Amino acid sequence: MTIIKPDDFHVHLREKDVLKIVLPYTSRIFQRAVIMPNLSVPITNLSQAYKYKQNIYSEIPKNHKFEPLMTCYLTENCNKNMIAQGFLEKIFIAAKMYLSHTTTNSNHGINNIKKIFPVLEIMQKIGMILLIHGEIYNKNIDIFDRESRFIENIMKPIRRFFPQLKVVLEHISTKESVDYVISEKKYLGATITPHHLMFNYNDMLSNKINPHLYCAPILKNKKHQSALHSAISGNCKRFFLGTDSAPHFITDKECKLGYAGIFNAPIALEMYATVFDNLNVLDKLEAFCSINGARFYNLPLNKEKISLFKFLHIPKKKFLLKTNNKNFIVPLFFNKKLKWTTKLKKNNK
Ligand code: NCD
Ligand code: ZN
Repeated sequence: MTIIKPDDFHVHLREKDVLKIVLPYTSRIFQRAVIMPNLSVPITNLSQAYKYKQNIYSEIPKNHKFEPLMTCYLTENCNKNMIAQGFLEKIFIAAKMYLSHTTTNSNHGINNIKKIFPVLEIMQKIGMILLIHGEIYNKNIDIFDRESRFIENIMKPIRRFFPQLKVVLEHISTKESVDYVISEKKYLGATITPHHLMFNYNDMLSNKINPHLYCAPILKNKKHQSALHSAISGNCKRFFLGTDSAPHFITDKECKLGYAGIFNAPIALEMYATVFDNLNVLDKLEAFCSINGARFYNLPLNKEKISLFKFLHIPKKKFLLKTNNKNFIVPLFFNKKLKWTTKLKKNNK
């Protein structure tokens, strides 16, 4: 099948030698991508964002057409005028909020949500999107409840104060989030990852543990996975593609205290196609991958197309990635069978 070339509305490209090796997997398939700002020194101002964007541009393979869309990492001390200026000058497409200690490099994130209300107010006024990692970290909150508690304790109050603030709940993983997005009107959207659609926690934790399926938010049970399936099979146009591809070195995944994050960029679109196919809703794939997100972000639809083919294959060799410092990154589906593959249409070169 052939669809409009998709965009990835949530990806971690990292920096330096990791950026260099992971970027082509995203830029090959996706026309644009919303780049997460959670580097070890987070992107919190215009000059950092500008420099990071240039670094990304300098690593895009010559035959790929790709546009990185930069985001600003919100901290309690962020400058609301700088953020608004960044949006109006098209340096930032959105700002990202992490509560502190929820995920990789979120330690600079927010402890007291009220501290960023002035920023949210100006963002609402100028139509700048707030991207949210929707989890609360607290020792008393069960890891499987972090997302639903976030909706109740943080998300709903934010929306009461800022009803017209455009928000994307990122990488949703629960039935509560799906229901909440559907119950809201035009100002709330959500990204859904290929791994939350394809897997539940039984795939990660069986008689052995698979650290390459460990991510934030953690995979939930079948009931929640089915709710995500209903979301992509239904008619709400505010669910869209965000891979949350998040590479980590193998030494940070297969170790005593592993990081959360799944590197799916090389096979993300194939995974989505497989899930839509299994659910018998391939007719909804194009809107989810290439239309709904662009519309939510007020971006033009891409002109180019991409083709997907269905055949069983094992995408072996090209996938174990070696970095300059001789460490490795293991992509999801390394050495496993895949049902679909992708190819750019020739006339698009
Ligand atoms: C992401 C990362 O590694 O940067 N990890 C993850 O498990 N998704 C951060 C994030 O999006 O939570
Ligand atoms: Zn992410």
